[in-house]
Amino acid sequence: MALGLAGCASSGAGTVSGRKRIVRISHAQSETHPEHLGLLAFKEYVEDNLGDRYEVQIFPNEILGAAQRAIELTQTGAIDFVVAGTANLETFASVYEIFSMPYLFDSVEAYHETMMDTDYMEQIYESTDEAGFRVMTWYNAGTRSFYAKTPIETPDDLKGKKIRVQQSPASVAMTQAFGAAASPMSFGEVYTAIQQGVIDGAENNELALTNNKHGEVAKYYAYNNHQMVPDMLIANLKFLEGLSDEERKIFTDAARISTEVEMENWDEQVAEAKRIAEEDMGVQFSEVDVEAFKEKVLPLHEQMLEENPKIRDFYSHIQEVNKESGQEKGEDES
Ligand code: GCU
Repeated sequence: MALGLAGCASSGAGTVSGRKRIVRISHAQSETHPEHLGLLAFKEYVEDNLGDRYEVQIFPNEILGAAQRAIELTQTGAIDFVVAGTANLETFASVYEIFSMPYLFDSVEAYHETMMDTDYMEQIYESTDEAGFRVMTWYNAGTRSFYAKTPIETPDDLKGKKIRVQQSPASVAMTQAFGAAASPMSFGEVYTAIQQGVIDGAENNELALTNNKHGEVAKYYAYNNHQMVPDMLIANLKFLEGLSDEERKIFTDAARISTEVEMENWDEQVAEAKRIAEEDMGVQFSEVDVEAFKEKVLPLHEQMLEENPKIRDFYSHIQEVNKESGQEKGEDES
């Protein structure tokens, strides 16, 4: 009996149901979020092509654990995939600190161009093999800005505020450089923490206001645009290594398709979230002087580069992309 079961298990610690290997994916978002839609496309593609061998199960809303825990489960192979922001990956693979550097990308165009250069990104994705996982693809997670119970119009308004950040040392440093007190906690804890006054606010893209209901408890969102932190679909490395070449290609294509679907839904969902937050939740969005916010934290660039040699090449690469995409923009406008 025991032998028979062992013979059934194809790879890793995943469950085998009947003759199918169950592939588990954990993520932190709701079932309407663009990432969930992308993952449904992933599931569909894998099952259309390998449905006799694999069944993909998606677990949203942190039900298998908040990001840090879910990453650990993916490292050990207890689950096969997790979607996690690079901020949450920093403590597992320090190269991902780069994305927490405030005002790293000059524009959304430069951010997308960098991330969509799959050949370049592959070097980064492979560099974290020693952590036991491999990034399969990225998802757009928009631009992060501060929001709170009281207005934030200038950097001074952050002084003395307690702001939730992700469990990311670089984001803690950034928030402190802005003059606020940083309170790292998992995503799922933020709503109650704001509601109960444990913190004054947080920082995120607009979807957090609606999908996670933060707009019910924090009514002032300031477009200071400090970070563009992508989410990553990461896989347990042993799971990937256990796949045949044919299977590996299907999982890789499924990952690429999931990003396309996620990206197609992003802008529209952000616009809709903004509308709902404003009209139904009474959130006030304000355009602030971004340069004033930038000034506070730009010295962090040098400091982070000095402390973490792993991010230096990537940083120079992004500066090139910033320059090129700035030039293209200039040409378009003239
Ligand atoms: C966004 C992002 C998540 C991240 C979350 C957070 O929703 O997409 O990956 O975990 O912010 O602030 O924790």
